[in-house]
Amino acid sequence: MYVAQPIEWTDRGVVMLDQRRLPAEEISYTYNDYREVAKAITEMVIRGAPAIGVAAAMGVALGVLRSPAQTLEALRTEFAEICETLAKTRPTAVDLFWAIERMKRRFASLSSATSDLAKIREAMVTEARQVHIEKKATDEAIGRYGAEFMPAEGQVMTQCNAGALATGGIGTALGVIRVAVEQGKKLHVLVPETRPYLQGARLTAWELHRGGIPLTLITDNMVGHFLKTGKVGAIVTGADRIAANGDTANKIGTYQIAVLAKENNVPFYIAAPISTFDLTIAGGEQIPIEERSAAEVTHIQGVRIAPDVNAAHPAFDVTPARYIAAIFTERGVARAPYNESLRALAGS
Ligand code: MRU
Repeated sequence: MYVAQPIEWTDRGVVMLDQRRLPAEEISYTYNDYREVAKAITEMVIRGAPAIGVAAAMGVALGVLRSPAQTLEALRTEFAEICETLAKTRPTAVDLFWAIERMKRRFASLSSATSDLAKIREAMVTEARQVHIEKKATDEAIGRYGAEFMPAEGQVMTQCNAGALATGGIGTALGVIRVAVEQGKKLHVLVPETRPYLQGARLTAWELHRGGIPLTLITDNMVGHFLKTGKVGAIVTGADRIAANGDTANKIGTYQIAVLAKENNVPFYIAAPISTFDLTIAGGEQIPIEERSAAEVTHIQGVRIAPDVNAAHPAFDVTPARYIAAIFTERGVARAPYNESLRALAGS
């Protein structure tokens, strides 16, 4: 089955598929400067929490590899700046900070063991590539755990894009659907278009169509209508940050889907790697919500669709844990009470 490749480390640099141009055009760029990688994350060339983490790890590695520093001291100074630049790109997806912290730990252990800059550079590249390799294995494990919860046949719903484009593997929510289909389940996916950035219409519809998984694209305001029919067997979405109590930030619109799911007795699931947990915060009200440009609401692909008025664009919302039937991770399935099950899975 076709798997999109949003990011790749190559000898020429970090290659990214421009997700802003999909589905109309498949254009890739090769980045050789960590600042370009940071800009690509901010401007959504690459998006989706785990893929942002992979991009950040590769950005850090690229910064170290291309740094003009000739001494360990100079490299240390530049390293701090590289990490700070990448950390400022997007605030909600905790995978970004997880990846930067991992690269910091690796740098600290390497630089305390050697002052050979060539060795440090090579090992940092290996670490970033390892982050990407691990994401693939993680997605497959999430897919296997989650597929059990998908109905044998019928409609399921998702939100935004939590597919290969969003992770660099097979996807989290779409990975669950993909594994279920590979196991022989006859699923048909309802895909809300996910205004304002249209990740559902542009990216999820594209990925499912390419993968040969049947789908129906719907507008966001059709969600309640379809859930009320009794024909949707399950909903599965990704996550950008999961607090210790299970409250989950995901793409704007996820909260209202979860509430409507409860009203209509449809199980609502989250599929996410452990790297998306943020157990340092007790609940969802502490999750920073990214506010993106109002132009993404007043315009579609550069074309104005509203008069020149105020527009709001919180890019994420928080679904309280009480609406979440289970969270699928690479280490197993978490159920309420999440304060206990998430800690047990994270091993802390
Ligand atoms: O703004 P985006 O496109 O980065 O938002 C993406 C989402 O909300 C995804 O559902 C989430 O990151 C999970 S991706 C596996």
